Amino acid sequence: MTEWSKSAWRAKPRVQMPDYTDAAGLAEVEAQLSKYPPLVFAGEARRLKAELGAVSRGEGFLLQGGDCAESFSEFSADNIRDTFKVMLQMAMVLTYGAKVPVVKVGRMAGQFAKPRSAPTETVGGVELPSYRGDIINELDFSESARIPDPRKMLQAYTQSAATLNLLRAFSTGGFADIHRVHSWTLGFTESDEAEKYRDLANRIQDALDFMGAAGLTSDVNHELSTVDFYTSHEALLLEYEEALARLDSTSGQWVAGSGHMIWIGDRTRQPDGAHVEFARGVLNPIGLKCGPSMDTEDLKVLMSKLNPENEAGRLTLIARFGAGNVAEHLPRLIETVKSEGANVVWSCDPMHGNTIKSDSGYKTRPFERVLAEVQEFFAVHRDQGTIPGGVHFEMTGQDVTECTGGLRAVTDENLSDRYHTACDPRLNASQSLELAFLVAEELSNRGRSDAAAATA
Ligand code: PEP
Ligand code: CO
Repeated sequence: MTEWSKSAWRAKPRVQMPDYTDAAGLAEVEAQLSKYPPLVFAGEARRLKAELGAVSRGEGFLLQGGDCAESFSEFSADNIRDTFKVMLQMAMVLTYGAKVPVVKVGRMAGQFAKPRSAPTETVGGVELPSYRGDIINELDFSESARIPDPRKMLQAYTQSAATLNLLRAFSTGGFADIHRVHSWTLGFTESDEAEKYRDLANRIQDALDFMGAAGLTSDVNHELSTVDFYTSHEALLLEYEEALARLDSTSGQWVAGSGHMIWIGDRTRQPDGAHVEFARGVLNPIGLKCGPSMDTEDLKVLMSKLNPENEAGRLTLIARFGAGNVAEHLPRLIETVKSEGANVVWSCDPMHGNTIKSDSGYKTRPFERVLAEVQEFFAVHRDQGTIPGGVHFEMTGQDVTECTGGLRAVTDENLSDRYHTACDPRLNASQSLELAFLVAEELSNRGRSDAAAATA
């Protein structure tokens, strides 16, 4: 790697970042965060990278999901628990379909900063700076609320630390023991996908009873009683990322201490920009969002900057083209990856290309379009003989009404019932589980040609 320092991004063009007016306040916060313990450790990021390396070879599958934006006001143990539960359920369903381990990565414990389509927002003739996530400013539409406040970084750090603490307890403290596979069910017991999940849980329970009789119990087998659960977020606010970067003394490499995996958004992936400059120097797994405007030349440069050693598991390309557009864009990116001989994980984000404004005025995503994009993604990979390695969802364990459709159909008129997101519309618990079953179906056909899949 060419020379790098954690502050070198400051000399590069930056987009989507706030202009802090309180320079002294900013410096104070940065100094303070630099002294705080990192949230994650180099060894953990390295372990995730190794697991993603297996995913890139088809020996695993990546499930990445969580809020569009975490918020200070929605922060609660119940919300964290419920998202964690749905992800465990989805992982079970996917493991059953794919017959490979599922790598679980939350959009959690750091997902606070948001890129926006416009720098300002106008309501009733009043123009104010856009809301950029709770780590930067406030959603409330008033002049003072929209001023970027560096002290919010400290609150985001504290909330992330508390979130991670609970996630670590859930992962290893008995809650995630596979023998509790029935107990992860949430309160939507009357739906078809819940019934399907109960059937699957019964089959798993049978297998566990058999294994127990053969002496393989959670007491002797750590694999059955704990899960690895990782955190991720978009590394957008670089002052925060820099302040939490740490030198790993065992390897002499830098690690982003803010989360296990960080990603670069579709709007901040300029090859010579600040965000790519920061990400290229840390050892963590890196995600790169690829929307319709990603051209093949840029992809080549980005791959060589972000993964110069062509390490497996280092780079995850997250395709987000929108339903109906995958066949137009994904093949040329796959061909570029093939011609470069690059190791990547291919993941599908079927959320960000499918956002529409509903007739009732709410930002929403129709479930059919989300599902269609996932199916198109798998079809292109079957066609190309490449590996569809993962999915990336905006979802919550809560029973919200933000995306339309699904088996327990949310209609346009229902959107206002429980619309709680601080940013983009999320799949609710029931829609998430339904999607997991549909992805599992695709996965059980992974590697087979379309003709074979159609006759299966
Ligand atoms: C996001 O993941 O919330 C996001 C803003 O995505 P993208 O960069 O793909 O638009
Ligand atoms: Co989003």
